Amino acid sequence: MSVITTIEDLRVLAQQRVPRMFYDYADSGSWTESTYRANNSDFADIKFRQRVAVNLENRSLKTTLIGQEVAMPVALAPTGLTGMQHADGEILAAQAAEKFGVPFTLSTMSICSIEDVAANTTKPFWFQLYVMKDRGFIERLIERAKVAQCSALVLTLDLQILGQRHKDIRNGLSAPPKLTIANIANMMTKPRWCAAMLGTRRHGFGNIVGHASDVSDMSSLSSWTAQQFDLALSWKDVEWIKRCWGGKLIIKGIMDPEDARYAVESGADALIVSNHGGRQLDGALSSIRALPSIVDAVGGQIEIHMDGGIRSGQDVIKAVALGAKGVYIGRPFLYGLGAMGQAGVTKCLDIIRNELDLTMAFCGHTNISQIDKGILIPGTY
Ligand code: FNR
Repeated sequence: MSVITTIEDLRVLAQQRVPRMFYDYADSGSWTESTYRANNSDFADIKFRQRVAVNLENRSLKTTLIGQEVAMPVALAPTGLTGMQHADGEILAAQAAEKFGVPFTLSTMSICSIEDVAANTTKPFWFQLYVMKDRGFIERLIERAKVAQCSALVLTLDLQILGQRHKDIRNGLSAPPKLTIANIANMMTKPRWCAAMLGTRRHGFGNIVGHASDVSDMSSLSSWTAQQFDLALSWKDVEWIKRCWGGKLIIKGIMDPEDARYAVESGADALIVSNHGGRQLDGALSSIRALPSIVDAVGGQIEIHMDGGIRSGQDVIKAVALGAKGVYIGRPFLYGLGAMGQAGVTKCLDIIRNELDLTMAFCGHTNISQIDKGILIPGTY
């Protein structure tokens, strides 16, 4: 592919360059994938009001997320196994985000560790935490995030159990990949990926090393999750984590107005309307459809962020118009990474920024902070 102009172009290139097991891991949802598809397709129903003869000089997409300045209202979502899309993937994505001026969120289930990313970046990144039964382990992870000067903790509440993704089971997903004949044959068609991987020592789960030595494939990851993740998790634990952390706290995985009110009471600084990119409860509403009722329930008490299905700057501005202070992108940056490494993540952010800027202008605005429902046609959202 010679010219890349859309996130879809990056997806196609990533599919060519990343071994099937890891491409499918990123590009899939749970069960029938209906929520995964709706996350994106529901954006298409929402229509803009086009305005004309407005002075469009001096446009700005700059804003803040939990008090931190950002170049546009977009952050990179936490994604597990990012370092298997491209060697040193978490480091490259964090560096691209840092240069661009948007937050990078490192997953608990990353390949590169908190320390690996901290050693290769100069600005604070965010750390995402899963709640595990072993409270001592959580305290140690939080301590490591503090030492690395992470500037926000993103606490994911929607993965106490694992949604089933058929492709991962069929592919025998594992990190590093199991060297079966089928996997070797597939990897031989991805020489760039293999060459980059040979140059790095990081092929396991960097943050949970020593805690999950027996995790080698999807079924052992499922049973490890069942053993380690806390089924008894409650809002009291969230308050305890907030006390341990002591910094900015963002609660991820809220899809219901009642849970949104609990998140406010728990003392969070922000919540993320998210169904985990359609990877957990298939049949849940799309995030963009869930957003308005959560905005109403929270009534401006804390920031509301959202993720799921953002594939363009137009999707970003629709979410902002409906009350999100900012959005996260998961797969779009993974496609960029798999396609072209750090340059691909930058390309992804460039594409989104450009689409966001032009759409804002077509709607007759010059500053992202002016955007509200007024840019949308009533009855389409
Ligand atoms: C995720 N997501 C995720 N969320 C989280 O809190 N911790 C994690 O480790 C992961 N891992 C993960 C891996 C992969 C491959 C994907 C695609 C997603 C969910 C992620 O943070 C985010 O909610 C979704 O990716 C948003 O949807 P889009 O942008 O991918 O459509």
